[in-house]
Order: sequence, then structure tokens, then C-alpha cells
Amino acid sequence: MIEVKNLTKKYGSFTAVKNLNLKLEKGHIYGLLGPNGAGKSTTMNIMTGCLAATEGTVTVNGFDIYDDAAKAKKCIGYLPEIPPLYNDMTPFEYLRFVGRSKKIDKTKLDAEIERVMDKCGIENVADRLIKNLSKGYKQRVGIAQALIGDPEVLVLDEPTVGLDPKQILEIRQVISQLGKERTVSAPIRTSEPGSIGRSRSSTKGTR
Ligand SMILES: Nc1ncnc2c1ncn2[C@@H]1O[C@H](COP(=O)(O)OP(=O)(O)OP(=O)(O)O)[C@@H](O)[C@H]1O
Ligand SMILES: [Mg+2]
Repeated sequence: MIEVKNLTKKYGSFTAVKNLNLKLEKGHIYGLLGPNGAGKSTTMNIMTGCLAATEGTVTVNGFDIYDDAAKAKKCIGYLPEIPPLYNDMTPFEYLRFVGRSKKIDKTKLDAEIERVMDKCGIENVADRLIKNLSKGYKQRVGIAQALIGDPEVLVLDEPTVGLDPKQILEIRQVISQLGKERTVSAPIRTSEPGSIGRSRSSTKGTR
């Protein structure tokens, strides 16, 4: 599904990621573990084609993230560390904008927006301005935009950071549900730099 080979990222003379190898399979939720500054967001930005690697390759469903960028990116939904929300739009307007950017068929777009809003439990705030939503609901809108187009792989950068315990549980339930159908990768800070763990097995029939 996603294969990272010999990935190195240097910012000038500083090495943020050194020779990382990963293989992420369908139907699992993976946690990328490491303390602040370990290189988790850098790795995710490279895995999703938002940042160029210094060395190494990333393939998504066999498509190289740089050489076959359009095909590779079509398989990925990404929630970056800072969700890319437009505060003066409503969730519905924003999701329509994202759907158009992802070139979703116009005749299917409204149904697709309804589908992701339902998955993320944001129908009740669909017509409120994003800037007036609580942090947890903004995060849900961020996850919803990653789901538009039904990508096979979801990459979520700290989807529960800054949320209250109830919201964390709710977002985890959303992610857990999504992980039954696709590959989900989300980083978690720990004292074990650079390690990676498979946090949960797939349900039967999803592998
Ligand atoms: N654009 C950049 N230019 C220079 N250094 C950078 C840049 N982006 C990240 N870094 C550095 O690379 C290292 C890894 O950063 P990164 O954001 O990937 O870490 P992280 O594991 O996501 O941390 P956190 O848990 O705080 O989110 C850090 O030392 C950071 O300061
Ligand atoms: Mg980070």
C-alpha cells in the first residue's frame, strides 16, 4: 500500500529523517512514534508528496509519489499537522471546494460531501462558519476533507492534539471505524525516537 525506502530528509546540514524504511499495509492503523522533533511530520509530508525527500523513494499502491504523483496522490487523504481550513467558509462550502480541487465528478459531489459529513458527525454544523466551530469540530472537518474522494490511504498528523478527553475518544472512534476499511497512519509522541508500531489489526476480510 505505502512503501518508504531509504528515506532521508536534510534541511540544509540538519538531518531530520535518516534512512527510514516502512511498509504500511491495507486495513491497518499505524502509529508513527517519536518525541517532538523526531521527524514524524516531515515523514508524513514526504509520504503524501507535499515535501521532497533528499534521498529515498515513496510508492503508494505501486505509484511513485514524485514520478507518478497524480496517481499516487489520488490514493491518499491527508490531514496535515495544521488542518488547512478556510475559516470564512462553512464546512459544506469548504468540502465542496476540496471536492472540486480533487476533481470529484460534479454530479456525485453533493452525495460525497453528505457521506464524509456523516462519517465525521458534522452534519449539524454544516452551515456554520468554520471559525466559530470548537477545536474538536474543526478537527473533524479536517478529517472529513481527507476522506473526500474515498482515498484508500489516510495519513493523519496528530488528529487528536489539543482536544479534550471526550473529543479524543470521539475522534479515536471515527479513526478506528475508518481503519477497518483502509490504511490509516497517525503519529504519536513517545520517548522512543523514530520507532513505528502497528497499533491495531484489521477486521476479517479487509486485508
Ligand atoms: N522547513 C524546515 N526547515 C528546517 N528545519 C525544519 C523544517 N521543518 C522541520 N524542521 C526540523 O526538522 C525536525 C523534525 O521536525 P518535524 O516537524 O518533522 O518533527 P515532529 O516529529 O513532527 O515533531 P512534533 O512532535 O513536535 O510535531 C525538527 O528539528 C524541526 O525543527
Ligand atoms: Mg509533527
